[in-house]
Amino acid sequence: MPITRRQLLKESTILAAMLTSPWTRAAQAGLTWCSGSEVLQSDGRAFLKSQPHPTINPNTLARFVDPLPIPSRAKISGYRPSPDGARDKLPFYRIEMREFAERLHRDLAPTRQWGYGASVPGPIFETQSGKPLMVEWVNSLPEKHFLPIDHTIHGAEANLPEVRTVVHLHGAKAPADSDGYPEDWYIPGKSATYLYPNHQDAAILWYHDHAMGITRLNIYAGLLGLFLIRDDLESALNLPSGKYEIPLVIYDRMLSPDSQLYYPVSLKAGAPWVPEVYGDTIVVNGKIFPYLEVEPRKYRLRILNGSNGRFFALALSSGQPFYQIGTDQGLLPSPVVLRNILLFPAERADVVVDFAGKEGQRIVLKHQSKEVMQFRVLSGGPKETGSLPDRLRPVTAITQSSATRTRSLTLGEYLDASGESILMLLNGLHWKMPVTEKPVLNTVEIWNLINLTGDAHPIHLHMVRFQILDRRPFDIFTYNTQKQVKFIGPPFPPEPAETGWKDTVRADPGVVTRIIIHFEGYPGRYVWHCHLLEHEDNEMMRPYEILHS
Ligand code: C2O
Ligand code: CU
Repeated sequence: MPITRRQLLKESTILAAMLTSPWTRAAQAGLTWCSGSEVLQSDGRAFLKSQPHPTINPNTLARFVDPLPIPSRAKISGYRPSPDGARDKLPFYRIEMREFAERLHRDLAPTRQWGYGASVPGPIFETQSGKPLMVEWVNSLPEKHFLPIDHTIHGAEANLPEVRTVVHLHGAKAPADSDGYPEDWYIPGKSATYLYPNHQDAAILWYHDHAMGITRLNIYAGLLGLFLIRDDLESALNLPSGKYEIPLVIYDRMLSPDSQLYYPVSLKAGAPWVPEVYGDTIVVNGKIFPYLEVEPRKYRLRILNGSNGRFFALALSSGQPFYQIGTDQGLLPSPVVLRNILLFPAERADVVVDFAGKEGQRIVLKHQSKEVMQFRVLSGGPKETGSLPDRLRPVTAITQSSATRTRSLTLGEYLDASGESILMLLNGLHWKMPVTEKPVLNTVEIWNLINLTGDAHPIHLHMVRFQILDRRPFDIFTYNTQKQVKFIGPPFPPEPAETGWKDTVRADPGVVTRIIIHFEGYPGRYVWHCHLLEHEDNEMMRPYEILHS
């Protein structure tokens, strides 16, 4: 098949995103982002980004000696009256955040972590669309943080308690007072009870911490877990289920020689924040290099990139394809055949992998050249029952003419005199400035995300799902000098795997990414932000308000 100009453009976009990402820049130079290492800036100058600190080189660890842990299911602890006064009582869960220690690998000492229900990832919620539930999120953590808080960051000042948590269910259409507003944090000994109505399509949601100014540290410590919504349409598809449905929560970390989580700190005394964190050690469901025994048949993998800053480009060593069936907000119209799955932080991929005919093989899931985990294909097993239909869920495009408003919003990075990044802002505004985005409930808007920085940013809006319209490169220099978007190429459509409902979108550098949003759900105060957690914590987050219609 001849490569069309469009395909080339599409390829080059992904490539551009990858080439300009700091990780790849460093990797190309043969350097790593490990603490204390040199990294390259886009202008080619090398500088020391963070304090030197010894870390465990994951290449020295034995491969595939730990079985892949499967997180437990969250257990109902009772039934409570619904806050809206409805007659039915709602399932009630009580989840405690606790400190605990667990081995990340057979040959390492136990690693101190903070987890929901004392596990990382936390227990998996499973529920049906339209069936509400309540969760009491209990902060039972210690009073002291074990990762480096930067008190110069807004919302993390030295007069505030060190340990603060608030839970956000990412991807949920939830009322504002159950959404986990970053300033609604509470301290050890306190809790908050949230209502999740779950009036939305089957999808992979995930819950994680969202406390103002320290989200990056709380999630790095382990405060994340999955929340699966199912529905009848999905069940009717007869996708692989039960033990053939495997959650994969993948994230990167750094470990000190004593096996403890290491979070890098800057070279500035008293201001430890660093602009990005890329750990060299990849963890899946709480283990490094785990393995999973599989039968020669179809499996459904529910994948989350739970990293602070690293993207994953996942592939299988057997060269076989993934069939991507869903994205952040649920099923795609039909499966997309892919040899690489690109996931930025907070993005999810719902995929089917077929191990039939691979009896006896050991297949490694890789991120670029890094090994992530191994599938060991057994020689037999019961007959295949799962299927992979050609048609999944129709996705109706939101028409552009239905939009009542178009907003142009910049993503900007601010450097100090030495060229080091000090903060990133959305539309040039700080968190504390008055709310500027006030969409009206039940209206449609188009948001143009104008990325003026050299990096790709995964942008997430709370409460809503959206569709990606297109991405179009523009000239940053002209924008900076004349405040005008001068396009330097045609727009290109979303990748095939992005053609479903999304809640997080990769905004490429030097590109205007257009999304179309139907503000359905609840009125009130929510947030939108970059999901690179170091950016989010340092002002790359803004409140937005959905007004009553
Ligand atoms: Cu995944 Cu505002 O969050
Ligand atoms: Cu960002």
